[in-house]
Amino acid sequence: MRILTGVKPTGKWMHLGNYLGMYQPFLEKVQWQEGFLFLPDFHSLTSVHDADTLRSNKHRLAAELLALMPNDAPFTIFEQSQMSYINDITWILSSVTPYSLMLRAHSFKDSQNKNSEINMAVFNYPILMAADIIGYDVDMVPVGKDQKQHLEFARDIAGNFNRTYGVEFFKLPEPYVSDTVATIPGTDGRKMSKSYDNFIGIFDDEKTLKKKIMSIVTDDTPLEDPKDPDTCNVYALMKYFTSGQRLEEIAAKYRAGGYGYGHAKLELLDILLEYFWPARERYQKYMDDYSLVQAELDRGNALAEKIHSDKYLELKEIVGL
Ligand code: ADP
Ligand code: TRP
Repeated sequence: MRILTGVKPTGKWMHLGNYLGMYQPFLEKVQWQEGFLFLPDFHSLTSVHDADTLRSNKHRLAAELLALMPNDAPFTIFEQSQMSYINDITWILSSVTPYSLMLRAHSFKDSQNKNSEINMAVFNYPILMAADIIGYDVDMVPVGKDQKQHLEFARDIAGNFNRTYGVEFFKLPEPYVSDTVATIPGTDGRKMSKSYDNFIGIFDDEKTLKKKIMSIVTDDTPLEDPKDPDTCNVYALMKYFTSGQRLEEIAAKYRAGGYGYGHAKLELLDILLEYFWPARERYQKYMDDYSLVQAELDRGNALAEKIHSDKYLELKEIVGL
């Protein structure tokens, strides 16, 4: 079983919501499978138009993703733009993709509502994404809910191609959308999101991390009064990163009174630093010496390129090029 997912380097770093909502389900699925994680950097060109920014976004995101990956996970990380034939495959797929299908894309409609002028890359985005997936004979794609429609498009496009040429060439990929993961609350209690600036970044320096945690919104129950842990935003986050006796003890302290939200916040900081300590160490190592990241990317690029280019050579034959 081959599993693949992509994280766009658009200057958005991994926060607790991304980690629990997207990355952990990917890791769970990848445990015993062949896992591919890639940086869709061509996709970033829909919005990032500065070379240094794109390079540094990619650099940091690759270091973050690698740092969060357990050492023994059998996975491959690679860069979309290093695949020789990704745009050739996209072009061929676009020739079997109805215009009317693309007009239905939520991502396109959203951009249309927000901007008066949209670039063509936004319009073609789902076809490139289909080439990312079906070009590697992927079985399963873990994605967030917002990407589910793109997966349906990839299946439609694969099916259109197979029907048009009378072949069983492209596999129809299955989306894996984890519905069991709750929406992780941000510092203001709304969904944690970069767009709301209420997120807690996994790799923020300790000072920033503390500041963010201290800004978590709580009610005004006085320090000495008993509190209900189940209605507290701080406790809601703790629950994901600690369990068992430690969590029970914290809940008991809430209920007993004399335990303020400031205490709880410092405890959350402690819990997060402990939980992410190995990843934060690895991240620093990768940021200090980028050649370590590059070595992983080179290895992954070579492996992914072999699969993708073999697929393309067969594809050329089928369409008569
Ligand atoms: P953001 O809202 O911060 O821009 P993205 O839209 O880039 O985050 O989300 C990337 C992935 O992380 C998606 O798969 C999404 O479902 C998941 N995700 C983001 N925020 C949360 C959250 N607060 N709770 C659960 N999952 C989340
Ligand atoms: N469109 C995805 C996003 O915006 C990123 C992406 C590109 C992707 N190609 C992919 C995700 C292939 C999964 C599989 O988040």
